[in-house]
Amino acid sequence: MSDETPLPEHVAANRAAWDEYAPEYVAPGERNWRVAPGHETWGVFGFPEADVRVFPDDLAGKDAIELGCGTGYISAWMTRRGARVVGIDNSPRQLETARRLQADHGLEFPLVLGNAEAVPYPDASFDFAISEYGAVLWADPEVWVPEAARLLRPGGRLHVLTNSWLSLLVAPDEPDAPFGETLVRPWFGPHRVIWKGETSVEFHLPPGDWIRLFRASGFEVEELLEPPVPANATTGYVHATGAWASQWPVETIWKVRKRR
Ligand SMILES: C[S@@+](CC[C@H](N)C(=O)[O-])C[C@H]1O[C@@H](n2cnc3c(N)ncnc32)[C@H](O)[C@@H]1O
Repeated sequence: MSDETPLPEHVAANRAAWDEYAPEYVAPGERNWRVAPGHETWGVFGFPEADVRVFPDDLAGKDAIELGCGTGYISAWMTRRGARVVGIDNSPRQLETARRLQADHGLEFPLVLGNAEAVPYPDASFDFAISEYGAVLWADPEVWVPEAARLLRPGGRLHVLTNSWLSLLVAPDEPDAPFGETLVRPWFGPHRVIWKGETSVEFHLPPGDWIRLFRASGFEVEELLEPPVPANATTGYVHATGAWASQWPVETIWKVRKRR
């Protein structure tokens, strides 16, 4: 299945950019596809699933969609936990990796080339939607959040993980520069961010805007997690050390539920 409608400008830019980034995501995708149920971890410091509970307890037998599935490892994790999963992604090259890994692992689920802002599935098709640095970071929230609400059944959950709002405010423009300890960006926007030297478009919202948007789209906010790490924690992530992340949140996890 593929979406033939013309792409909005930021979606076209992000498709081209992610087709270019895709080779860097092959090795992490391969590593993550090998993770067994119960051993999943989240974010750049690897929070154990048992601590942050990004997956609902009752995933088995449910319909789930990953919005911006990339190499598909989170979709694979959900399939192994017994969900019927669809992965949608905007990058043909990321999906090439996902398809190859499906074949390597003998694990099949639908992979759709498309934009999470306009998903080719009927209303109320899913019980759970998830985005880990996918649509939550690269699609327009004013469009993809109502779209996620449309796709979910009443009582269905949307869980997302992305950069913390604070980390954006202290992030210098230079690529690979570490987060600082002073604010270098305005709280009040712009919320559409193109980093120096990049063509891809990211979206970052302050917490109040997320809450307004979730509620206006028919969700109740159940949890906002911004976990600290121990100061001696290590990461391959170039922007934050354990020392930084023990004082300020690097990442945010929102858990929201569609009103019944
Ligand atoms: C950092 S990856 C996250 C995916 C996955 N967790 C992984 O690491 O492979 C971001 C993904 O979001 C996808 N993406 C960006 N914009 C999108 C959109 N509008 N709709 C669907 N996917 C999108 C990109 O193509 C990319 O594969």
